[in-house]
Amino acid sequence: MLRHDSPSPDTTGRRAVSVDRESPVMNAEIRDYSEAGARRHGLAGNGTLLNLDRAEFEANFNRNFFEVQHQLADHPLFQIPRLLELADEMTKKWPKDIYFDAGVDDIGQRWSGAPADITVEDLMRRIETSKAWIDFKSAERSKEYGKVLNTIICDILKISGRQLEKNMRRKQMAIFVTSPNRISTYHIDSEVNFLLQIRGEKEISLFDRKDREVLPEVEIERSWTVDVNAAVYKPHLQDRATVFKLRPGNGVHIPVNSPHWVKNGNNISVSAAILYHSWDSAYYNLYSTNYYLRRMGLNPTPPFQSKLLDALKQPVGAAIQAYRTARFGNLRNIGPNADGIHDRTPDDAF
Ligand SMILES: [Fe+2]
Repeated sequence: MLRHDSPSPDTTGRRAVSVDRESPVMNAEIRDYSEAGARRHGLAGNGTLLNLDRAEFEANFNRNFFEVQHQLADHPLFQIPRLLELADEMTKKWPKDIYFDAGVDDIGQRWSGAPADITVEDLMRRIETSKAWIDFKSAERSKEYGKVLNTIICDILKISGRQLEKNMRRKQMAIFVTSPNRISTYHIDSEVNFLLQIRGEKEISLFDRKDREVLPEVEIERSWTVDVNAAVYKPHLQDRATVFKLRPGNGVHIPVNSPHWVKNGNNISVSAAILYHSWDSAYYNLYSTNYYLRRMGLNPTPPFQSKLLDALKQPVGAAIQAYRTARFGNLRNIGPNADGIHDRTPDDAF
């Protein structure tokens, strides 16, 4: 769920999303991540947009969260008037790729539907007072934003090595516009994410994904199988969070499954999540198998502790996921039936 700085409602599935494939821009322009390739695809002029420390990246990428720096703070595409144009474009072309709500104050609140009687343009114009959270999911569908995503993916691959690109099932850029003091509720995500702060300041509380008091095994199993909102905020464990102060020019890398929530400062905030969904289906298959083993009264061994058990569970989990996708639609927005995303999939029907 990418709720980051929001939920990535995309993954959280608050509203149905239509995107399952990479955008035409991505398909057309990402071919070669070398400097020469960037020039050929018209990206070289953008320069580096995401600054990564090689040693930090190699030590912690998709294992622990860490701070990053970027060059988007003064970028014209992320100014409010330009984002209003993007809202207009996306409303006309890809209305399911905009999520918005207003008036959420509770950290533990589940995602709910968008207000029916207001448009995203109205919310944007009243962003100062509407307690709104607006998520331009898949902003890269708009070509100029797609170039920004391409450039940042290039920046990542320059550090990681190009082999990482083979693991990227779908690359995405979500842009979040939030009202002063607005909260983005507690959740975990299934995507690898770089959350970049562009305008305003906010605090993100990030928890160790290996802490089983913060994130019990059963919550992870439910999250990957039946309920993208399964992670439950525990106020008495808030002091275990690492709190990053996000400000224009910095950001944070958020690994898969790392619990987090966000509190906006007394300012309008604009941030962007650069993320990718992985081809690796181990999380889905192993956690969904364990979900059903637990429902049978067993206490299954967590994933990644026994290669033998994982090997036995993989095909079982794949069958479970195939069945559930066929019957209920995709839990997250990465499969062929994205319009079938449910706010909460029935967990008593299998
Ligand atoms: Fe998130």
